Amino acid sequence: MKRACIIGYPVSHSLSPKLHRYWLKEHGIAGDYTAVEAKPEALEATLKKLIAENYIGCNLTLPHKELVLPMLDSMDEVVREIGAANTIVIKNGKLHGMNTDAYGFMQGASTAQKKKAVVLGAGGAARAICWALQSDGFKELVISNRSQEKAQHLASLYQGKVVDWEKRSEALAGAGLLVNTTSLGMKNQPALEIDLSSLPKSALVYDIVYAPLETSLLAAARDRGNKVIDGLSMLMHQAAPAFEAWFGVRPQVTEALRRELLA
Ligand code: ATR
Repeated sequence: MKRACIIGYPVSHSLSPKLHRYWLKEHGIAGDYTAVEAKPEALEATLKKLIAENYIGCNLTLPHKELVLPMLDSMDEVVREIGAANTIVIKNGKLHGMNTDAYGFMQGASTAQKKKAVVLGAGGAARAICWALQSDGFKELVISNRSQEKAQHLASLYQGKVVDWEKRSEALAGAGLLVNTTSLGMKNQPALEIDLSSLPKSALVYDIVYAPLETSLLAAARDRGNKVIDGLSMLMHQAAPAFEAWFGVRPQVTEALRRELLA
């Protein structure tokens, strides 16, 4: 039986086991996908255990995506560029790192006008997203983050501009895309406060938070007529190339899958 898993801390909330098991069943593959909890200091030992137990790969989530880089035997160029891996393929006892987050993000953002993109946040997720926006040819990248130094660093990597966190609402004028990559709006976290009145109605509003699915940002954007993309889009689309790398079949992202994840 082919086995893969997601390693995180915490990891019990992850929808990835449900998602990959849906595709395994759909394609009649004898495999399994589980959640493995590991603190950062246990990551290396956990990966060794996966090799010893003949796992074919794993996903990585918080807080491991960046920490894992020195533990990899090889990696795709995109992993080096973004500085983070979310997928590992294990072959002949060797770990190969991939990053499918940037691809997963862009599947949802592909209908946005490629003019100005405003990114809220400057953590690990923002890094993959800024890389994706630059590769996809967005004309202007504006980053706003509570900690200004992190925004400055990210902006320097991707030729972006920084807007003070207090001025985030003003940064929305002329944008084709607004993305929330912060944890604001997530269950048990404070709400994201932002005034959308200067955002063009044609802009796409994308929230990578998926619990809850309809954040107050998306509800406000939908109310005023903006198109919205929720966090399940990125989750489902980043998983498809990972599944293909392990199990050899490219699975489809469908409405039926979305319904299954919400059930
Ligand atoms: P991820 O890898 O998912 O991006 P992260 O690296 O912990 O996670 O980043 C979380 C993001 O949410 C950061 O941009 C963080 O801002 P700081 O860089 O200032 O920490 C942002 N964030 C978290 N709590 C916040 C809050 N209460 N107000 C504003 N931003 C917040």
